[in-house]
Amino acid sequence: MPKLIVVNRAGEEQAVDGDTGLSVMEVMRDHGFDELLALCGGCCSCATCHIYVDPAFADVLPAISADENDLLDSSDHRSEASRLSCQLVLSDAMDGLRVTIAPED
Ligand code: FES
Repeated sequence: MPKLIVVNRAGEEQAVDGDTGLSVMEVMRDHGFDELLALCGGCCSCATCHIYVDPAFADVLPAISADENDLLDSSDHRSEASRLSCQLVLSDAMDGLRVTIAPED
C-alpha cells in the first residue's frame, strides 16, 4: 500500500495510505483534503486538483497528456512540478510520493 505525503496550503504535512489503482486525487479526497476541490471528479477538465509533485519522483510518474498540459497552462500557479492529481494513478513505485496542494486559481 503506497504511502502519500500531502502538504496542505497551510504547509502542514500528513502521511496517508493509498490503494494502488486509485488516483492521487481520489486518495486525497478520501482522506478529507477538501482544499482540493476536484470539481470535475477526475475527468481532466477543471484543473482544481492541481498539485506540485516532488521532483525526485518525476521518473515514476505517468507522462503528461496534451489535455493535462493545456489545463495546467490555464493556472496562474503552474510550475515545473505541477500535475493534475486526478491524472496520477498510484503504483507501488510511487510509495512515499510527496505532493503539495497548489494555491487556488
Ligand atoms: S479533478 Fe478536474 S482536472 Fe482533476
